[in-house]
Amino acid sequence: MSSHRQDQVRRVAAPDIAARKGKTPIVCLTAYTAPVAEILDDHCDLLLVGDSVGMVVHGLPNTVGVTLEMMILHGQAVMRGSKKAMVVVDMPFGSYEASAEVAYANAARMMKETGAQAVKVEAGELIAGTIEYMVKRGIPVMGHVGLRPQSVLVDGGFKAKGKGGEERQRILEDARASAEAGAFAVVVEGVAEGLAREITEVIAVPTIGIGASAGCDGQVLVADDMLGLFEWTPKFVRRYADLKGEISRAAAAYAEDVRARRFPGPAEIYFAKAG
Ligand code: KIV
Repeated sequence: MSSHRQDQVRRVAAPDIAARKGKTPIVCLTAYTAPVAEILDDHCDLLLVGDSVGMVVHGLPNTVGVTLEMMILHGQAVMRGSKKAMVVVDMPFGSYEASAEVAYANAARMMKETGAQAVKVEAGELIAGTIEYMVKRGIPVMGHVGLRPQSVLVDGGFKAKGKGGEERQRILEDARASAEAGAFAVVVEGVAEGLAREITEVIAVPTIGIGASAGCDGQVLVADDMLGLFEWTPKFVRRYADLKGEISRAAAAYAEDVRARRFPGPAEIYFAKAG
């Protein structure tokens, strides 16, 4: 083995995550850029290049407008910034629903061009066959059930799911079908607490919750939400920082210094060589 390979840190891989079922909770945050990925890498098992990038970074109203090219660019950045966390890239709306063959071709392109370890799909029972097709051909897949943001136009908004009745049963079946099709983990988003616990009990792979209670095998949040970059966040977000306030205070101080000609100062300018 070359010394170059020995120096490399081994990244967390899909089987490592699958083996964490029922053990220490899996820590996951979204990441979209190299510098943020570098900071989060020390603390997370998984970095998710979520298609939430469309809303968080590009100002889109939902994730429907996100393209494969956007996911590839952000996936590449997160891979460059991180060393040890597993990197999972979301398959965007329209890139996997038509057929298993189309999904495989797009997922393979995303993995080759980013170097990421897995893809994530918003999975109903309908997508289970596609998950199986991709996993059997070498692509680790993470499922995503419950509130599925790519279905926002059909659902009429981002609403919590599975509070009762048929919908509850369907979400349970979606999770079961994803796991049985070979998904190494399943994100459970925006569902009532009892349902998240039941899914976690009945499926054999880890559940990673977002707005789905502490009953899951791990947790994921949109990093920019928990860092306090936005005025409004969903009820399930806990803010661990006030980056919006910090950035605003820094920009105000800079603007004041520029207007008062206090910036740049002697330490921040170049001088010609003496003589
Ligand atoms: O796109 C995303 O950020 C996600 C998480 C909310 C799980 O899918």
